[in-house]
Amino acid sequence: MDNEEGRRLVQRFKDIRGYLGLDEGYMLYCWAKEGPGEGVIVELGSFMGRSTCWLAEGSRVANRGKVFACDNFRGYSEEQNWDTLPQFRANIEQAGLSDWVDVRVGTSENIGRSWQQSQRIRLLFIDADHSYEASRLDFITWFPYVEPGGIVAFHDIGYLLGCSRFYNDLLRFNPEIEEVGSVGSLRLVRLPSSGAHVPSLESITEELDRYQQLLEGDVLDVGGLIQLGTFRFEQMQLEGAERCYRRAMALSPSEPIRNNLALILVKSGKVDEAVSCYDGHTDPRWVNFQQGQALDEYSQAHYDRAEFWYRRILDVTPNSVLACNNLAVALGKQGKIKEAAEYYGRAISLDPGTTSLQVSAEMCYRQLVEQVPSAETFNNLAMVLVNQDRFEEAIGYYTKAIGLDPQRLDYHFNLASAYHRRGDYGQAEVCYRRALTMVTNSPVVWCRLGFVVGLQGRIDEALECFQRAIVLQPAAAGPSSDEVVVYLSHLRSRLQGQMGRIDAMLSR
Ligand SMILES: C[S@@+](CC[C@H](N)C(=O)[O-])C[C@H]1O[C@@H](n2cnc3c(N)ncnc32)[C@H](O)[C@@H]1O
Repeated sequence: MDNEEGRRLVQRFKDIRGYLGLDEGYMLYCWAKEGPGEGVIVELGSFMGRSTCWLAEGSRVANRGKVFACDNFRGYSEEQNWDTLPQFRANIEQAGLSDWVDVRVGTSENIGRSWQQSQRIRLLFIDADHSYEASRLDFITWFPYVEPGGIVAFHDIGYLLGCSRFYNDLLRFNPEIEEVGSVGSLRLVRLPSSGAHVPSLESITEELDRYQQLLEGDVLDVGGLIQLGTFRFEQMQLEGAERCYRRAMALSPSEPIRNNLALILVKSGKVDEAVSCYDGHTDPRWVNFQQGQALDEYSQAHYDRAEFWYRRILDVTPNSVLACNNLAVALGKQGKIKEAAEYYGRAISLDPGTTSLQVSAEMCYRQLVEQVPSAETFNNLAMVLVNQDRFEEAIGYYTKAIGLDPQRLDYHFNLASAYHRRGDYGQAEVCYRRALTMVTNSPVVWCRLGFVVGLQGRIDEALECFQRAIVLQPAAAGPSSDEVVVYLSHLRSRLQGQMGRIDAMLSR
């Protein structure tokens, strides 16, 4: 977005959850502000209000009609039964646009049926159910209320099959409908002044039969191949659909064709081919799609397939805690405990604060301890226990880890930290000192040792340890690196009587 107004609006609306790209939102805003005609704006499919805000802000700035936001507020599909209305209202309120939005709850068809004839529409935005039949029904129901010459906008064109096919049909059957705007998958058309001809399903089927004959003679162009391929896909004639899309790809490769071909391949069970078709594709909707596949497979207890999809998701979003966790769960279900433990470890290092993650990881590590009772697995189990403040049990497992591998500095350090967090400063001191026999020049260990010594009231000794830590800091970290400052400050608040001496050290 290369203008100031757009950038300002992006800041306002970018955090509202939704499906509209920022450029697409800005285009809706421009048409809501400056588009032709009188009357209101109707939006079919509002979800959490992302597009509603862009439209309402356009109308508000130009002091024009309200936006009627029509949605069943049930999430992506009726069966999902997810109530998105409270979040929708909160988002509109927060954007300061409540006076510019009128909410209508229900299906777009029912709301359309009771729409007052006299309430004219200057801009209709269709973004609800994206199947062919539903897009057609939305258009048939609502376009009679749109002013002659008014604007109809469609979303997900070139991305989702059903609505894209309807959109192509609409333009094909109505040469007088003019496309006036296009960005991302958003398309805007201007209706003719004398009304539009909505393609009937029968006429389309007949036409497709003709296409089919042409295809047999191998003379279809790319548009025809897509048309026929999509139709076959919707009829679940997957082989035929694949043939058409492959031929379309050979004639004119493009991203939407490639993506649709991948969807067909997935449905045909040719998952590997689909994945290589989509390779490197980071579109969040593709990630969502893979998420759906993974969930599907997981719910059918196909854990190896779920693993496959979670690995793909992780390739694209390597820092996703959820993907690491889900992959770990799928691996665990297949008894691949060692690998599962690895991914739990990754998830926890990305987000140590999530309790449920710690609990699942604990279960996995406990299994692993049974199967492979190594020092490392004891140490890992102890770490998740410490994260849940279960120090007693953790100390037991750290001790076992040290018993198996006494030379590992980090195990001694972890054991010391567990004593330290349990409030047993004497034992913590013993362990930190043991760690220092292995590595005498670790500023972190000296700093922690200083802290637990100080908490036992031996303040001179404690300050000496901190002094050692400061001297040992790498030059780049400077004399008052974070670790020392943090622990000295903690000590200061615990030992009120020694504040002066510690302050002197902190100010150095
Ligand atoms: C893709 S989302 C809309 C996204 C929204 N325009 C945005 O910018 O984020 C589709 C919405 O349409 C709603 N929906 C689906 N089918 C519907 C129907 N037949 N009638 C009304 N709403 C429907 C869903 O509940 C969902 O909130």
